[in-house]
Amino acid sequence: MIHSRIAGTGSYLPAKVLTNADLEQIVETSDDWIQSRTGIRQRHIAADDELGSDLALHASKAAIAAAGIDAADIGLIIVATTTPDMIFPSTACALQAKLGVAGCPAFDVQAVCSGFVYALATADLYVRAGHCKHALVVGAEVYSRILDWTDRGTCVLFGDGAGAVVLSAAEEPGILGARLHADGAHLGILSVPGQVRNGVVTGSPFVTMEGNAVFRFAVRVLADVVDELLPACNLTRADIDWLIPHQANVRIIEATAKRLGMPMDKVVVTVGMHGNTSAASIPLALDCAVRDGRIQRGHRVILAGVGGGFTWGAVVVRW
Ligand code: UT7
Repeated sequence: MIHSRIAGTGSYLPAKVLTNADLEQIVETSDDWIQSRTGIRQRHIAADDELGSDLALHASKAAIAAAGIDAADIGLIIVATTTPDMIFPSTACALQAKLGVAGCPAFDVQAVCSGFVYALATADLYVRAGHCKHALVVGAEVYSRILDWTDRGTCVLFGDGAGAVVLSAAEEPGILGARLHADGAHLGILSVPGQVRNGVVTGSPFVTMEGNAVFRFAVRVLADVVDELLPACNLTRADIDWLIPHQANVRIIEATAKRLGMPMDKVVVTVGMHGNTSAASIPLALDCAVRDGRIQRGHRVILAGVGGGFTWGAVVVRW
């Protein structure tokens, strides 16, 4: 029987750092408000000439090196992104070209902030079905491009970045289970509603959000999906060494941990340094915790995402 396990992780943050003090110069806000309501201290912003696929390339190279393989060994590329380089072709195809490999399937997943969890669960099915030996799974975002920099309710929350993993065929299970959900009835509470029609954008091309509704929904479904998935994997909350939730707001993360009865020292939190990087937030946090040594071989890690759609889901990984 073929299993899949994460063989390597990587991440990349653009060089430019935008602090809360910098934002005080752009909109009527304060470091105190942003930190106390969100936990965010700074976020990274891509350079004008940097595309999501460029961020993805840096993260992917690091993950490929950590896995000890060559780019040519990759048999599947999935990029989770809400901010693709262009309408089409996919960012995954652009990444494939930048990696200098050709032939393997490459496609994007659009599940907003749940995108990486969706992509990882999908890649797991491909690998376990024997379709490829090594899958490259990436979350990459340039949210700075879809923010209204005059709207203090949204522009302070997001950042740019990318995270990647190589998921490889293995004899021992690494991905222990996954659950994905969506409910399109909540389309309107978090969206970029603009459409391209006949050469013009109609409707807003910026992130619009009912913050309070998103907050409540996120806390409920993140905890629910963890509690749904663990028994399906014959695990309990006590078996989990690390919870890596989507990094949107430290208050959402704390409320989720509280609902799950998990102490915060078992939760990986990077939102303070990265802001909300949407589909990139979970693989960025994962790579941080792997590289700083918190996540050790044998640990059980649960990745839990939630985002526009609404979409949500979780994956349990044995390291
Ligand atoms: O990946 C999912 C993406 N989205 C999210 O995760 C967002 C989820 N929601 C949240 O994180 C929170 O709802 C927010 C951080 C967006 C807002 O926090 P809140 O505690 O729910 O604040 P609020 O929306 O109730 O606003 C409180 C006040 C308002 O002023 P008034 O009406 O009380 O006078 C806002 O106008 O804070 C004001 N406000 C700000 N003040 C300073 C909103 N944004 C800002 C700001 N700086 N940046």
